Amino acid sequence: TAKIPELKEARSRRLESVGVIGGGTMGAGIAVSVLDAGLPVVMVEQDAAALARGRARVEQVYDLLVKKGRIPADERAARLARLTGATTYDALGEADLIIEAVFEDMAVKQAVFAQLDRVAKPGAVLATNTSYLDVNQIAAATRGPADVLGLHFFSPANIMKLLEVVVGSDTAPDTVATGFELARRLRKIPVRAGVCDGFIGNRILAVHRQAADMMMEDGASPYDIDAAVRAFGYPMGPYQMADLAGGDIGWATRKRRAATRDPALRYVQIPDRLCERGWFGQKTGRGFYLYPDGARQGTP
Ligand code: NAI
Repeated sequence: TAKIPELKEARSRRLESVGVIGGGTMGAGIAVSVLDAGLPVVMVEQDAAALARGRARVEQVYDLLVKKGRIPADERAARLARLTGATTYDALGEADLIIEAVFEDMAVKQAVFAQLDRVAKPGAVLATNTSYLDVNQIAAATRGPADVLGLHFFSPANIMKLLEVVVGSDTAPDTVATGFELARRLRKIPVRAGVCDGFIGNRILAVHRQAADMMMEDGASPYDIDAAVRAFGYPMGPYQMADLAGGDIGWATRKRRAATRDPALRYVQIPDRLCERGWFGQKTGRGFYLYPDGARQGTP
């Protein structure tokens, strides 16, 4: 685990506009969270179709909020009016803070940050929402690693309160302060994390999940395990969480770690078997639970 640099007295940089790269599960949730805070968002996706899907994800969240009576219809319109979309990085030239939420793949993220290095204005803060990748390696794709940090949101990003502010070895104190200022504006709870495999929240959840997987292999049903964990006061159990996050995320990590895994340790293969069938959870309509016709609530 890398040592976390001391946070000296530092003030946030300007934070009036935000760019979000990727309109998938996380990018859309992060966009909602920022729009809710009253800041404008530019969402960048790979092509027009992906951008339309990203925008639709954001609209879906607001449709539900209106339906539940949490916000009036004109508030939905006002928040959506602050969202603009683009398929080229040039649209990010005015953003004070840019949050990358593309696929969890080092080469893809480095290519994105090399582009950001070209288009971002001087002093813009560049953040990655990576779950497990090395923030220093991502920052190395730019000429200004002092401007780069991790801002690790949790899914659903517009609801979950925790925001891990991941400090790289070259991250400037005012870059860190800007991450904390974002958390304050979004009404989230920021925690400082160093560059390490999984940061804080996911490392803790991984231990829960490992225990749950062993019980499942021994015969416990994932639904009973989830019910037990919910009874402790958690909003959802480990398998509901896995389906929400998307099985592909954990699968990529398990494959990456396969070479260094201690063969003497017990390894439960059930989650890999699900992934091999393309059962990635909510996003594919099937995971540990079934989600027929885009249902958000899974059935065993
Ligand atoms: P996703 O697959 O739902 O969305 C990724 C999006 O990025 C896609 O819409 C894709 O079209 C877009 N994209 C890919 N390359 C791009 C590029 N070069 N330019 C613009 N857009 C591009 O993935 P998800 O789940 O949203 O994850 C994104 C990141 O967030 C990953 O790094 C993941 O590890 C991290 N994360 C995921 C969490 C989760 O629960 N799913 C939680 C916290 C972090």
